[in-house]
Amino acid sequence: MKTVLITGGSSGIGQAVALQASQKGWHVLVGYDQGQERAQRIVDAFHTAGGKADAVHLPLKDPARMDQSLSLLSTSGRTIHALVLSASPRPVLASFLKTKSEEFLDQFIVNVVGHHHLLMEVWKRFFRNQGEGHVIALLSAAVGAPPWPHMTAYVTAKRALQGMIECALSELSGNGLRATLVSPDYTETPMLLNVEPRILEAARAKRPAGKFLSPKEVGAAIAHHLENPPSPGVSPEWLTIEPSR
Ligand SMILES: NC(=O)c1ccc[n+]([C@@H]2O[C@H](COP(=O)([O-])OP(=O)(O)OC[C@H]3O[C@@H](n4cnc5c(N)ncnc54)[C@H](OP(=O)(O)O)[C@@H]3O)[C@@H](O)[C@H]2O)c1
Repeated sequence: MKTVLITGGSSGIGQAVALQASQKGWHVLVGYDQGQERAQRIVDAFHTAGGKADAVHLPLKDPARMDQSLSLLSTSGRTIHALVLSASPRPVLASFLKTKSEEFLDQFIVNVVGHHHLLMEVWKRFFRNQGEGHVIALLSAAVGAPPWPHMTAYVTAKRALQGMIECALSELSGNGLRATLVSPDYTETPMLLNVEPRILEAARAKRPAGKFLSPKEVGAAIAHHLENPPSPGVSPEWLTIEPSR
């Protein structure tokens, strides 16, 4: 049985990937920060359905605590075959001229610094010994060219996450690291709670049938790539997910 560790597995897209992976027979490690109870409920539901899963405390701003969680996994004999980087703070919508330093730091420390630490440790403790491992990182349609307006800190951090994954591949793909970068369009999750309803309504109206993606659609697309990892190579595989017509 293969094992996947998912940051942000306690909500939204990460939770949907966890469900799809569990249904495909993966042992799922549901990463959480503030959402311990949510994560435990998700794990309990997978157990009830006959799956194997554990909730794992992975606070991306606390590398020492993440190391403790990884140590517990390795001493219990668990291995990890895939890592999904879904955790992210909610973007604060602000014009370029009103974007604050704190917002950059918040986005960077989770999306880039915390995920770098986790990928490095998962590589050293699990992937390297197996001679292979697949990392799937959540970017966003917002980081396209041109990027969506009023999301400077979020877009910049997501592009840095992309850069961090590409740096990992340039050094580790020869030893078996594979990477997939996922760019979903707007998806109906708690991440959108920060966004003013009138902005969301205007954005929905531009989508086919006036609907955003559902977490289930995004989870299914990512789980398909979890089951079918790319060949090792210095370039990541790209997965763009848009609402169907
Ligand atoms: N929703 C969209 O429209 C959309 C579109 C494109 C891309 N994305 C990307 O998809 C990914 C998932 O987003 P979502 O929509 O599922 O968001 P969500 O429902 O708000 O979930 C965010 C997740 O991130 C975790 N998280 C936040 N800060 C953390 C920290 N410091 N340490 C550890 N975990 C932390 C949360 O864990 P706890 O709740 O346990 O604290 C939660 O599980 C994100 O990377 C997002 O940028 C989302």
